[in-house]
Order: sequence, then structure tokens, then C-alpha cells
Amino acid sequence: MVEISTSLLSVEKEKSIKVIYDLEVAHTDYYHIDVMDGEFVENDTRELMKSHIEVIKQISNIPIDVHLMVQDVKKYVYEYLDIIPNIITFQYEALKDKQEVKSIIDYIKKNNVKVGLAIKPKTELEEIYEFLPYIHMLLIMTVEPGKGGQALIPETLDKVRVLKSYINENNLEVDIEADGGIKLENIKDVKEAGVDIAVVGTGIIKTDNYKETIKRLKE
Ligand code: DX5
Ligand code: ZN
Repeated sequence: MVEISTSLLSVEKEKSIKVIYDLEVAHTDYYHIDVMDGEFVENDTRELMKSHIEVIKQISNIPIDVHLMVQDVKKYVYEYLDIIPNIITFQYEALKDKQEVKSIIDYIKKNNVKVGLAIKPKTELEEIYEFLPYIHMLLIMTVEPGKGGQALIPETLDKVRVLKSYINENNLEVDIEADGGIKLENIKDVKEAGVDIAVVGTGIIKTDNYKETIKRLKE
């Protein structure tokens, strides 16, 4: 059974209340908040994400899954700890060295928030194996980070398979989240590859019955 984290990236500010309410009724497991700073990726979603978070805090108790696509990771970790998310995930590629990755992981955990590490499609799993014992979730980007509505890159599911067997062989307790281009058409492959949490944006938001779509994604 896969959990669904619905990305609000493609939801306009004006539609925020209705969409967030409808997603709660449709039983999304998480709201996926894509924070882009206009530096690590071209898009800047900071204002939009702030307004979505305000709405979530007012009308829902569904946990928030923060995905930081930012250059200054420390700055945004401090900022987003304040919204008391369920988990904060940052991009491995934004850090200079492994010591810094480790210190950010420790800092997030010290603040009683779960920690995730995200890797872009081209980043090799070998770069992150050493962090697996210390994190709750590894986010495998199945598209290039930066925008919604892209097509899933099939090779990234091979990385999920390899990671899944590595986690099992080493008795690690790490969830695998996949993010980007996931839809009803490919959710079967995503699940079979070993994904525990699937981030879905346009694959839900663009459909006319969120409840039905989420039910079918989770089946
Ligand atoms: C892309 C974001 C994804 C994206 C998913 O950089 O991290 O979460 O919003 O949207 P879809 O499902 O439309 O690819
Ligand atoms: Zn994301």
C-alpha cells in the first residue's frame, strides 16, 4: 500500500482553500510543499507555498511534507521548522560537503522533525548510502526538480529498485519517496519498484475527482 503526498505546486493561490479542503476530504496522506528559491532551481515558489501553508494550518491536520529545492538549505530549514511539518527534505546537491549534510540532518532531528534527503535523477545512489542510517526518508526525484507536469524518467525507477534492495539487505528503516510525473498510468510501476510514498501533483490536481483518483493511486 503506497501513501500519497499531493504536491500543491500547480495550485493557484486563489484556488488554495477549495483544493486543500477537497484533498482533505479525498484523504491525501500528506500535503507536499515544494519550496523553490529561484536559485537552486529557476522557479520561485516561496510566496505561493507560504499561502498554501497558511490555509493548511487553518483548515487541516493532515501532515506536511516539505521539499526544499533551495541553495541555502540551513536558512530554509530554520524557517520551515516553524510550521511544524511532519518531515523536511532537502536536496543533497545543494550542500558543499558531507559534513554539512550530516549537521543539517542532526539539526532537523534535534528539533523533533523527521528528515529526508532528496537526490536529482543524475545523482548516484553511492553518494548517499552513508546517510541512510540517519534519515527517515530518501526522496528519489523522478523528474528534474523545478516544475510540475513533467514526464517521469523511467531510469529513475531502477534507482528505486536498487535502493530498496540495499535497504532490505542492510536492515535499514528508511522510507523511499518518489517525486515527479507520477500518475494513474504509471503508479503500478512506481509501486512495484518499491516506493513507499508517491508524490503526485498534476496527476491528482488536474483530475476532476480527487477522492477517486487518490483511491485508485493507493489501490
Ligand atoms: C518538482 C517537484 C514535484 C512536482 C510534482 O520539482 O518537486 O513535487 O511538483 O508535480 P507532478 O506530479 O505534476 O510532476
Ligand atoms: Zn517535490
